[in-house]
Amino acid sequence: MAIENRGSGQFDYTPEVAAATAPIYEKLKDVVPEIEWPVHAPLIDAINRLKAQKDAIILAHNYQTPEIFHGVADLSGDSLALAKQAAETEAQMIVLCGVHFMAETAKLLNPEKTVLIPDLEAGCSLADSITAEDVRLLKERYPGVPVVTYINTTAAVKAETDICCTSANAVEVVESLGVDRVIFLPDEYLGKHVASKTNVEVILWKGHCEVHERFTGAELKAFRAHHAGIQVLAHPECPPDVLAEADFVGSTSGMIRWVGRERPNRVVMVTECSMSDNVSVEYPDVEFIRPCNLCPHMKQITLSNILWALENDQYRVEIDPQVAERARRSVERMIEVGRGKNS
Ligand code: 13P
Ligand code: SF4
Repeated sequence: MAIENRGSGQFDYTPEVAAATAPIYEKLKDVVPEIEWPVHAPLIDAINRLKAQKDAIILAHNYQTPEIFHGVADLSGDSLALAKQAAETEAQMIVLCGVHFMAETAKLLNPEKTVLIPDLEAGCSLADSITAEDVRLLKERYPGVPVVTYINTTAAVKAETDICCTSANAVEVVESLGVDRVIFLPDEYLGKHVASKTNVEVILWKGHCEVHERFTGAELKAFRAHHAGIQVLAHPECPPDVLAEADFVGSTSGMIRWVGRERPNRVVMVTECSMSDNVSVEYPDVEFIRPCNLCPHMKQITLSNILWALENDQYRVEIDPQVAERARRSVERMIEVGRGKNS
């Protein structure tokens, strides 16, 4: 079968490609329909060959689709893990399969390396919710109050920031400052969650994740009513009424570790769609109830544009050096806080 795609033209599902990708499909057979495999397999095979030739490494966020996450990613994880892996890699080229702020963070930590993102449209509603000028105005309004910024922001916003955090370390970062008040940007719900876990006063912004803000507490109550014994895991970008219903609140990797540790009979991950597919592959004994709120930005990344990115060294992530220097400091300070600990 010949496949049209955005890479260099046509790819055949030959017996050689079928054999080379068979172990991957064996893993994915419960989450990728058999009819789709002849489309994915030639692209997976081509990407895996090309990245080896080019000394490239593929970093994938937990929300990438299973054929990317299990088919071509060398390393995967939540935003904190991706930042740490980007800081440590020896590869000369990084292809970031995730959204733009993740690729920018990888570039901040690797100014000399080539960092590619396969689609420039892969944005984030939180990153779009605040500008560097907004942060400067807040600092004027609250002089001397440190600014803690979620990693889901642009480099220009990070440059105005004292320290970054992710959903995995937000409480730890806020407490590391040893102050009684911080400005926490831009995720209102994550900020409220942090405020509920610490005595530090948290000044909030009204940014929201367009995926997580759609979940409701009533929806979670309905999961409990319809699925006996279900364990409810939620991402802290969800609204407070959702988090109040959850058995566990944590980053995407925090949720994955929780499932690995607790091995519940039934679980629902209140977060983006692809997470459950990716995790269920590792834990076939766990029943995943799968509500589907999809992140349209994460879904801009496809096998086809990953191949195109590798073939054309595009799209290169570049950051103004003066902005980058200040933004880098806020990310490095965050990594320093967690040094030696498991995220
Ligand atoms: P994590 O850092 O928990 O993976 O979250 C990133 C994100 O964008 C969640 O929507
Ligand atoms: Fe941004 Fe939400 Fe998508 Fe995560 S899920 S990238 S926070 S829009």
